[in-house]
Amino acid sequence: MKDGLRIGVLLGGTSAEREVSLKSGAAVSGALRELGYDVVDIDVGADLCARLRQERVELAFIALHGGTGEDGSVQGLLEVMGIPYTGSGVLASAVAMDKVFSKTLFERAGIKVPGYEVISSMDEKVKMPLPVVVKPSREGSSIGVFIVTQKEELKDALEAALEYEGPALVERYIKGKEVQIGVLGERALGGVEVRPTNEFYDYEAKYTAGKTQYILPPEMDERSYALAMEAGLAAHRALGCGGATRVDLLVDGNDIYALEVNTIPGMTETSLLPKIAALSGLDFKALLEEIVKDALAGRAGERKMK
Ligand SMILES: Nc1ncnc2c1ncn2[C@@H]1O[C@H](COP(=O)(O)OP(=O)(O)O)[C@@H](O)[C@H]1O
Ligand SMILES: [Mg+2]
Repeated sequence: MKDGLRIGVLLGGTSAEREVSLKSGAAVSGALRELGYDVVDIDVGADLCARLRQERVELAFIALHGGTGEDGSVQGLLEVMGIPYTGSGVLASAVAMDKVFSKTLFERAGIKVPGYEVISSMDEKVKMPLPVVVKPSREGSSIGVFIVTQKEELKDALEAALEYEGPALVERYIKGKEVQIGVLGERALGGVEVRPTNEFYDYEAKYTAGKTQYILPPEMDERSYALAMEAGLAAHRALGCGGATRVDLLVDGNDIYALEVNTIPGMTETSLLPKIAALSGLDFKALLEEIVKDALAGRAGERKMK
């Protein structure tokens, strides 16, 4: 057994992304077993604390997507229990889950973001000219995201976005190349260009095979690619993230805009982050080893805001 380390792979959970998490978790746990770790799968529910104790988990590999697994809650429980875990800490996880807070920190770090307004109720007026993108501040998977080009559509889009937790975000529509950068600890691994056949990278484009073309590495000149990687790493650091993240960017000529940092990217062998890691010479197992190493190192430095 590898170093005798007992790893609990946290998967499933109760968020809308449960099914995706089960797939990530199965892939992670299978590969960790093949690497020789002593692995137990834990489907996360209200009994998480008891299960972690019962199973004598020494390190938690978090393969949860969305909800309490990604917003810092599960991370907080693990902190209290003194169990090291993969990925970002409590604060970075919570901040990354909130697009308004994230933007504030991106701006503070000198990273460009699309111009935006925060709308908390239907009584407030949008001042920005169309087209705009309306989205909830704390959702993912493009849920509740609308591109508004006609004045008549704005009210419905805002009402829909306000149905979710937190205020609505209205952003200037950026017509550009969509690029995602994979970051591991203190380095950018590379990127992927996302070319949806739909109007934008919406829910269907994300989860239906064949609806989106993924280009690895992105089709852009070397200098722009280097700048995009720099921006991705800067965004990861601005939020104080740790472990492996995937940063969503929009690139319009020389302007690179940060949209968000995904703190728990999909982890099946065909997910984007593992594909990006493969570009940089890290196969799936090597990537997992790096993530485990990062978790064991405690990442005290990385988790502090840069
Ligand atoms: N300001 C914008 N300009 C153009 N497209 C955008 C903008 N914001 C979001 N999008 C599109 O919507 C998608 C989802 O937006 P994002 O902010 O990443 O939210 P989510 O957390 O749901 O992924 C993006 O991948 C992109 O295709
Ligand atoms: Mg996104």
